[in-house]
Amino acid sequence: MSVVTLGFSGGLDTTFSVLKLKEAGHDVVAVTVDIGQQMHVDQIRTRAEEAGCLDFVLVDGVADFAEFFIAPAIQANALYQDAYPLATALGRPYIAYCLGHVARSRGTTLLSHGCTGKGNDQARIELGVRALMPEASFINPVRDDGYSRDTELEYLRRHGLVHESDDSFQFSIDDNLWGRSISAGPLEDPNARPPDSAFEITASVQDTPDEAVELDIGFKLGVPTSVDGEELSLVGLIERLNGIAGRHGVGRIDHMEDRIVGLKSREVYEAPAAVVLLQAHKALESLVLTRSAIEFKRGVSHEFARLVYDGMWYTSHW
Ligand code: ARG
Repeated sequence: MSVVTLGFSGGLDTTFSVLKLKEAGHDVVAVTVDIGQQMHVDQIRTRAEEAGCLDFVLVDGVADFAEFFIAPAIQANALYQDAYPLATALGRPYIAYCLGHVARSRGTTLLSHGCTGKGNDQARIELGVRALMPEASFINPVRDDGYSRDTELEYLRRHGLVHESDDSFQFSIDDNLWGRSISAGPLEDPNARPPDSAFEITASVQDTPDEAVELDIGFKLGVPTSVDGEELSLVGLIERLNGIAGRHGVGRIDHMEDRIVGLKSREVYEAPAAVVLLQAHKALESLVLTRSAIEFKRGVSHEFARLVYDGMWYTSHW
């Protein structure tokens, strides 16, 4: 019986992974990194317990995530394919770092994630962990055995882990302070309009206030530090803007995306603060940079976004 360190979100794939890892004779240490996701920690802990994890580790990481991952992305104007502010892609290398730490502290080299074989997150997590912990190996039931979401859902249902009213498994959701990524289910058809139930932090246009709001955002060294003259921590500032801009319907992104593995995929995002801050930062640069610097920056921003998207955070290329 060996211990497996599993990156755990409490969603369909990771809950299913716990059951399968246990069936294969492993003890599971579930690790959740709080980087500002909506799902309540108590809810995640309860899911880990109900699924039968040996232990649940919560890493309080939101301030570090903002300082070491979001701040450079703002300075870089990072937008993948000119559309996606990279919330998930920025979160993964930090989660990988935390997973490696927990695994080391438990004296295990066996890790697991709930990512599928079609997505980018498998690459980001494995590349991230291996860059920092070359001795790591992975066992990933969802990816390795190619389970479909329907099969997983049915399996969880049989184990009493899905309540009929539980619609949190309808979409594949990843979220953090920098934004919310929504995919799968009804979104897979690019012709279909995303249902209202896909959105949580942005209002539909018909529900937004009639009065516009004007914000004065202060930056130091390319990192936002104040709103309307009030100095805020980066976490506080992003939360404030997610609230205000989200209420005004800013930050919905509907994107046909090219994934690392070569698939095209329809992805929907909510990223109110990211949309506002990247726009504000670019406006600031247009005031203070020369034309050549702006043109050069456009090229390196693109390169930065592609490296982040491709899971190359710990590369020596930047
Ligand atoms: N397509 C986005 C990305 O690759 C979002 C991925 C969302 N992940 C998820 N498990 N729902 O960054």
